[in-house]
Order: sequence, then C-alpha cells, then structure tokens
Amino acid sequence: MTIVLKTENLNKAYRFGGFINRVKINALDEVNLTVESDEPVIISLVGESGSGKTTLAKVMLRLVEPSSGRAIIYDHLVAGEGAKPSKHEFLSTVQPIFQNPFEAFSAYRTIDAYLMSTATRIKGLGRSEAEAAIEEALTSVGLKYADVLGKYPNQFSGGELQRVSIARALIPHPKMIIADEPVSMIDASLRMNIVNLFLSLKETYNTSFLYITHDLATAYYVSDYIAVMYRGTIVEFGTARGILTNPQHPYTQLLLDSIALTDRKWERTTYVASDIEAKEFQFTGCRFRNRCPLAEEICTHERPAPVVQHDGREVYCHFASSSTVTLENVG
Ligand SMILES: Nc1ncnc2c1ncn2[C@@H]1O[C@H](COP(=O)(O)OP(=O)(O)O)[C@@H](O)[C@H]1O
Ligand SMILES: [Mg+2]
Repeated sequence: MTIVLKTENLNKAYRFGGFINRVKINALDEVNLTVESDEPVIISLVGESGSGKTTLAKVMLRLVEPSSGRAIIYDHLVAGEGAKPSKHEFLSTVQPIFQNPFEAFSAYRTIDAYLMSTATRIKGLGRSEAEAAIEEALTSVGLKYADVLGKYPNQFSGGELQRVSIARALIPHPKMIIADEPVSMIDASLRMNIVNLFLSLKETYNTSFLYITHDLATAYYVSDYIAVMYRGTIVEFGTARGILTNPQHPYTQLLLDSIALTDRKWERTTYVASDIEAKEFQFTGCRFRNRCPLAEEICTHERPAPVVQHDGREVYCHFASSSTVTLENVG
C-alpha cells in the first residue's frame, strides 16, 4: 500500500525563557504516525490548543525543522535528515491551507495575479494553460474566474477567500493538502460548506487531506482516520468510526463527553502556554496523568507505549487492552 503519511520518532523541542527560568517544551515528542492507503484519505489531527498540532503541520510543510526524526508524505521524505526534495517537487506533493485566509494573500496583489503566479511558477504552465487550470480549480470550489478578476483580498468575505485559498492549493494537483484550522475563522454557518468541499475534492482530485482542528464534530464527519494529540504526544490513533463509536484513551473519552454535553469548542484566540501546561510537557511518564481517572503509579514514571488493537487502533495508555472488541469488529 502507498504511504500517505508517516512520521518516525518525530521530535521538536522549543526552548524559551531567560537564563534562570529556561523552559524546554517538546512540542512533538516521539510522534509515530503511519497512514497507508491506495485511496485518498482525510486524516484529522485533533486536540486542544497547545497540543502540538500546528508544529506537526509546520514540520510537514518544511516551515519548521524537526529536532530529530523523519516525516514522509507520499513516498517523499519531507522532513528530517536527508530531506532535500526540490522546492518544485515538494510544492506539487503538498500544499497548505492556513487558518486565516487574509494572511495567506498579500493585501496589495489581486487574487487573479496570485493564482496566475501559482499556476505559472509551481505548475510551470504557459499563460493560456494556466488560465484553464485556474478556472478549473475555481470551479471546483464553486467560484468563477470572473468572480476574482481584478479583485483584492479585502473584497471577499472570509469564507469566499478561504475557498480561493483552497483553489490556489489545488492548482498544482498536490497529493496532499495540509489544512491547519481552516474553518475556525469562518462563520459557523459556512463551516460545513468548506468541510464538505474537502470530501468532494478528495474524490475529484484524488487529494488526501491532513485536517487539523479542535472541532471534533467536523472531524468525525469528514475523516477516515483520526489522530488525537495531547501535549506533544499522540494519545490515540485509529479509524474515525472506531474512535467515534468506541474511544479507548481516557483523554479521547473526555473529549467526546465534553462535546456531547455542551457542544463546546476549545477555541482560544491567542495562545500562551500556562504554567500547568508547561509542567505537563516536562512529565517523563504519561502527560495526561494529572487529568486521568485511571492514573496509577506507573503513569508517573513510564511513558505508555502504544497498544495496538486488532483493528489497527493505537492507544497510548498503560491500561488499554490489546483484545478489546470494538464496534468496528462486531458490525
Ligand atoms: N515558536 C515557538 N516557540 C516556543 N514555543 C512554541 C513555539 N510554537 C509553539 N510553541 C509551543 O509548543 C506547544 C505546541 O504548540 P502548537 O504546535 O502551536 O499547538 P496547537 O497548534 O495544538 O495549539 C505550545 O506549548 C506552544 O506554546
Ligand atoms: Mg495550532
């Protein structure tokens, strides 16, 4: 099977603070994820603010160097020692969509000029071919060339501009689009439109998505696989259906309960690491142990290794059973 995405012992440490109160945060701590599929897939990466989601996205997009480890997207080594794909090759493999579309485009450049340079530079197309490619990409997100011609970013709504940035990402026909919180700045009423768009683009363009979100509801709706992160570590990985119907890690269970009860989002606009959070990053054992109803002595000094269940689910908990019968299995 084709490797869609794979990380091997991926680590990223940030150091900050002064001479006395120096803090090191392992924003990615031995992250091992493997998704193999011959079909395009949508993988959601979920977790509350400060769990390391953006750091993982940035490593995959070559915006941040990992401290150690490797990352592979569609057989291309994109991060880690030896990762040197040409810029062109890289951009035609993976494309980003960011949280704030207004930051993704320069305010002083028309949208059509922007799309044109993506098509001619990255895709290497001549002008008329480029126009056709742009038209096609815009059509697939429900827009027309005439809608963008001569317009600047501030002439669009956030939802429209996010569509444009999706169209831009599609122009090189990437194997994967990495979308970091792509709907969190968009009107709640329009979010499902964008998420539905990912589903249809997966089919029409054969593009896989790494969809990063703190919104579990849309994650369940859209994804084939879900990885749950907590303080730089993966706590659970599996099929979306398996995780939704039968969460195994206490943290995933907590997340699901909190959705069911209040439909609450975890959104926090500006992110500042709290003392408690920074402390959890220093834990040698399980980082979730202080909030965990199951925690025992072993959790303070031993990092849980993944327990792999029969359906391929990986649960990073000392108390996960390797023989759990899941609904996947029964039904
Ligand atoms: N450039 C940076 N310098 C120092 N610490 C950072 C930096 N970027 C992120 N962090 C820290 O790494 C942790 C993970 O952050 P991030 O990857 O942004 O998580 P998420 O996207 O899940 O909110 C947080 O504690 C954050 O404060
Ligand atoms: Mg983030």
